[in-house]
Amino acid sequence: MVKSSDSEVRPCSIGALAVIPWEPPRLNCVAESGCGLIEEYADRWAVVTGASSGIGAEYARVLASRGMHVILVARRKERLKELAAELFDKHGTRTEVISADLSQSEEVGRLFREIEQLDVPVEILVNNAGFGVVADIPNTSREDVLDLIRVNISALTDLTYRFLPSMIERRHGAILNIASVAGFQPVAYMGAYAASKSYVLHFSEALWAETRDHNVTVIAVCPGPTRTEFFDVAGVSGWLKKQSAQTPEQVVKSSLKAAERNRQFVITGWRNRLLSLLVRMAPRKIAVLESRKYFRPKPRNASSSHAVSTDEIAKDSESSAKSA
Ligand SMILES: NC(=O)c1ccc[n+]([C@@H]2O[C@H](COP(=O)([O-])OP(=O)(O)OC[C@H]3O[C@@H](n4cnc5c(N)ncnc54)[C@H](OP(=O)(O)O)[C@@H]3O)[C@@H](O)[C@H]2O)c1
Repeated sequence: MVKSSDSEVRPCSIGALAVIPWEPPRLNCVAESGCGLIEEYADRWAVVTGASSGIGAEYARVLASRGMHVILVARRKERLKELAAELFDKHGTRTEVISADLSQSEEVGRLFREIEQLDVPVEILVNNAGFGVVADIPNTSREDVLDLIRVNISALTDLTYRFLPSMIERRHGAILNIASVAGFQPVAYMGAYAASKSYVLHFSEALWAETRDHNVTVIAVCPGPTRTEFFDVAGVSGWLKKQSAQTPEQVVKSSLKAAERNRQFVITGWRNRLLSLLVRMAPRKIAVLESRKYFRPKPRNASSSHAVSTDEIAKDSESSAKSA
């Protein structure tokens, strides 16, 4: 699939550099011919973690609609079974349901062994399972934060290193690691979550570079606020009502397109791209101080505990960037 002629080595012609061989950047088949990473995978297998709701369920739907067989992973087995039935009715593709709590390292190992026993080559791994914890310091549960690190970082890393070697051996495969726009900056009142997503972003980008010559792709997917159960689980139910947010459909469509183009990361949605750019342009001190406005708990008598909208943040960020 990869045209090895791309790696033809020619000498560089500038003065003393003439002795240094110049290697043109190697493009994979997708970038060259638009053959389509995902389309190629019809009738092959994908694993989607966190498939019981939100973005993960949408990945499963879209991949099945493209002809893939999907292994659905999450704790809520009933939800996975319902989704499996839906996928079979609509697309006739095969689905396997594996219930696993990814905050337990032995469960991650069991999950991998169960997938191995299915004896199917996994062409796409979507490391999507994850959750956030939003609270001020006195109200933060240490145990929840440690679970967050186990799911968002440890399980994702473990699964990535378990599946990548066989993809590299086959010279075929893709891993989509779900990060977040929160990964581009520290975020007050959700510090561990934002830091976990910075890890996912940097880890995935590094692997993208490492796997480039193996016809395998690793991409960090960075959604902004998205209409899912995420904020209910994070402890800020209702926060999303005041936000401009994407749908899981938009996130999945945009991320698959970026994976097809072999991008190292994608920020889904122009608004999220703009906000994230402003954050990166602003001095770090301003960016982190401004971030307090997202989730700062309101005084007890206020009607809503988390009332600042992303529109207000956008205005604030713009003025911060201007004054910087
Ligand atoms: N929604 C947003 O605004 C947003 C923005 C940026 C990034 N993200 C990221 O997108 C990903 C998907 O989140 P979502 O928005 O779709 O939220 P969601 O609707 O709450 O889905 C989270 C999924 O993760 C699974 N999960 C959580 N803890 C798990 C555990 N211990 N073991 C196994 N599975 C677990 C959940 O399944 P069970 O509860 O059934 O186990 C669920 O399927 C997450 O990584 C999140 O950080 C979301």
